[in-house]
Amino acid sequence: MLYSSSVQFWQPQLRWQQLQYPQLSNNRVEIWLCHLDTGCNAVSGNKILKLRYPLQQALQQQKSGVFTFGGAFSNHLAAVAKACQQLGLRSTGYVRTDQLDDSNPTLNFCRRHGMILKALDRHSYRLRNDSEFIASLQAQQPQMLAIPEGGSSAAGAKGLRDVDFANTPSGPANLVCCATASGGTVAGLIASQAMPADTAILGLTVVKDSSLNQRIEQLLPAQQPLRQWQLISDYVGAGYARFDTELLAFCRQLAQQQLYVEPIYTGKALAALVHLVANNKLSPAIRRISFFHTGGLQGIHGLHYRQLITAADLALLSGSMAD
Ligand SMILES: Cc1ncc(COP(=O)(O)O)c(C=O)c1O
Repeated sequence: MLYSSSVQFWQPQLRWQQLQYPQLSNNRVEIWLCHLDTGCNAVSGNKILKLRYPLQQALQQQKSGVFTFGGAFSNHLAAVAKACQQLGLRSTGYVRTDQLDDSNPTLNFCRRHGMILKALDRHSYRLRNDSEFIASLQAQQPQMLAIPEGGSSAAGAKGLRDVDFANTPSGPANLVCCATASGGTVAGLIASQAMPADTAILGLTVVKDSSLNQRIEQLLPAQQPLRQWQLISDYVGAGYARFDTELLAFCRQLAQQQLYVEPIYTGKALAALVHLVANNKLSPAIRRISFFHTGGLQGIHGLHYRQLITAADLALLSGSMAD
């Protein structure tokens, strides 16, 4: 048995919430948020799905653990640390930083969950997808399986294929959307075997990355019907992890409805979707939209740590979930 059925963590529950937002009141489009709850902030949303097959592979191949890559406030690193600890695997995180900060809440979460952290300066970090570089890290730790940044490999994307994100409580959605960064989540949705063939996929990008379309193409399975998809990159704003007071106000307003998003991924993408719908920028055939809440609420602690949000925002935006 690879996963113990007693580990609640591996049995994510689908939960739906309809978005009520003033800008949508005159519009006939429904937006439903699809949550994948695990009872653990760090491994909810897309994290649990993208890690499913790579970690299964590590266990099957009797590896002692995994190594992976992420920024200093990475949701992916936090998820890998927690998931590996639950499964009895070791984990190493290569962090994009000159020096590991002892007070960084994300890195501390990773350490508390057994992850060994190693700093990679910006120059070395650029090599994170380079096969020779990975091979050199692999040679130093042959018993550890490499997982790419964001968990966005073909195996990572495969973890999304069995979930029906289109099946909202009021009927099938025509469009399924999510925040997009390294592309594995969207790639999994495009190749999903659980959703109707005519459900379209929209990736709302939160990073400036002109190679993203191409990287998603590379994660798609060759011999399988794929659904119609598109990326929209007009709402990245000043760049990855940058947000303005308007976006923060949007996140606060949703938190008051017990709908928790953060301004780097889910909040930025959902604000983009509301703008697209309110301004009739989507096809008129789209009447019901499912927005996959990809998690990432652990990142709110990092925003507070960097003084990008106040203590009151930290309490408001992070809701009541345990880490
Ligand atoms: C909260 C959150 N949402 C969305 C994404 C984007 O997912 P992907 O990198 O698979 O495009 C990430 C990054 O993994 C994330 O942490």
